[in-house]
Amino acid sequence: MIIASGIAAASYETLKVDVTNEVLTLTINRPKALNALSRQVISDLRDAVSQLRNSLGKKTPDGTVDWSIRGLIITGAGDKSFVAGGDITEMSAMTADEVRQYAGQAQELTSWLEELPVPVIAAVNGFALGGGSEMALACDMIFAAEDAWFGQPEVALGLIPGFGGTVRLQKVVGPQLAADLIYSGRRINAEEAKTIGLASRVYESDSELLAGTHKYFESVRAQSPIAVATAKRTVREVAHLSISEGLKAELDAFTTCFTTDDMREGTSAFVEKRKPTFTGK
Ligand code: CAA
Repeated sequence: MIIASGIAAASYETLKVDVTNEVLTLTINRPKALNALSRQVISDLRDAVSQLRNSLGKKTPDGTVDWSIRGLIITGAGDKSFVAGGDITEMSAMTADEVRQYAGQAQELTSWLEELPVPVIAAVNGFALGGGSEMALACDMIFAAEDAWFGQPEVALGLIPGFGGTVRLQKVVGPQLAADLIYSGRRINAEEAKTIGLASRVYESDSELLAGTHKYFESVRAQSPIAVATAKRTVREVAHLSISEGLKAELDAFTTCFTTDDMREGTSAFVEKRKPTFTGK
């Protein structure tokens, strides 16, 4: 099945789903709890993201490749919060075994977001705290509204980050700033988040944030989907490697591009001074 039509028709208890111009928006929809990540939210997100994982970039029965979704936006319902973290009310009643399963499933979800063959943007409208900030960190980019707040306040609850924050925050902002934020639990605003490289863009309002995120995806949609997917995979892969290992991985990926129809089409179109028509193969 072409994933865009399947996912557009999906219905979830805690998610709103929208597909516009080949971009899927998943809006976490528990505004009364500031979109905290209850077990149900994690389960709904896992279902939606696993559908993308199973289809995008894969051959369909008619021999085409499913690139019907070119990007994913994750955002929060209401004007106050992106995601205010793991659900503290639920966690307060969990045993250690139960929390291992809950956080394990959330961590796996963050890895799935990283592995999707299309760019994923966290459109942060309001609070991105604890697990909310950690989910945003697993996205390729964070775009924020001016009133966004980021933080890892877990130590105030006798906890530490559990959805990947100790691992990913330091890769983005460096170990000292990550330590500063995690040990103190202090919140930073959108401007500081941009200064330290956590958010890459800041918009004046929530509506400009969503419009700006869609505009960004317009430029992605003009590119070869398989090249974007290869670029994403390579950028992720080399982040963990030494320079020499990274260069080798990049060379392998660069060479692989020369086996694709899109590379032949893109380079021919340039030479022939016309617009390319990419098939994503
Ligand atoms: N879990 C469950 N419910 C939450 C929540 C959370 N993380 N954050 C907010 N809520 C609920 C509140 O309990 C409240 O519900 P009621 O109306 O039923 O009382 C509702 O959302 C509105 O919240 P507030 O009244 O507190 O709103 P506020 O504007 O006064 O404060 C806030 C906003 C500063 C974000 C505050 O809600 C807050 O500090 N929330 C908790 C943030 C936090 O500690 N997050 C980390 C969670 S632990 C974690 O995420 C671990 C991990 O790594 C997975």
